[in-house]
Amino acid sequence: MDTIDIFFETLWAKYTSENPLALKIHESLISEGENIVNDHIALRTFNFEMCGIDKISSYLIKNGYEEIEEYFFIEKKLHAKHYQHKTNKNHPLIFISELEVEKFSDKFIAIAKSLYNSVDWSNVNYDKILYSGLLWQNLNYNKYKILKEESQYAAWFYTNGFSANHFTVSINKLKKYNTTEKLTQFLINNKIKLNKSGGIIKGSEELLLEQLSTMAESKELYFTDGKHRVPTCFYEFAYRYNYKNGNEFRGFLTNSADKIFESTNLVDND
Ligand code: NI
Repeated sequence: MDTIDIFFETLWAKYTSENPLALKIHESLISEGENIVNDHIALRTFNFEMCGIDKISSYLIKNGYEEIEEYFFIEKKLHAKHYQHKTNKNHPLIFISELEVEKFSDKFIAIAKSLYNSVDWSNVNYDKILYSGLLWQNLNYNKYKILKEESQYAAWFYTNGFSANHFTVSINKLKKYNTTEKLTQFLINNKIKLNKSGGIIKGSEELLLEQLSTMAESKELYFTDGKHRVPTCFYEFAYRYNYKNGNEFRGFLTNSADKIFESTNLVDND
């Protein structure tokens, strides 16, 4: 097994331990004879020097990935890049976003900075950082709430740290559920709670990409000031269309991704 395959297996193990529903969906698709290929994996971070996108993507770059495109989410104050493996098309795309911390309030920035400064970055193993989880201790619920008030994304990162925010099943590679409609029906039949922000299906054939996702699961977490339930990860599904020249669209749509980010909002959106 290549080092990159072990990397993906470890990332998946960490992700499914936080999100057993993804494993359950994965296994029910396999039991129906499906072969699951990941379209992309998404990760989150803050844009500080030692943990920004360019820093935490170093393992991927060393292992055959290259940067393809960057994106900006003005309202959510996020910057993102997507990476693709140079030779192996079976490896998933990697989408990494970072919060533009300096664009928030002084109170927010102070919490983010103290979190950042609590980590001894010189001791961090960057080959393993993407599945290292929380590199900080003593989570405080009051601070969590302050972050969450300005950015749900920041609150998620505070309580989940470095781990796959979502894996994404390639609908194109499925046999029985090989359209967005068929897969959506399968999920609804299995009573899976879906993200309905902007409609269940984000994107369209005209835009060359359709995506949908589950709502994130949650976990009980011990904060210094009590035990509370916080969102963890979600599972996504994507269908890619071809350009007129026959090449598959391999990018991302900012309008759709903007809504997908909301899969970690702990709200009852039924
Ligand atoms: Ni995604």
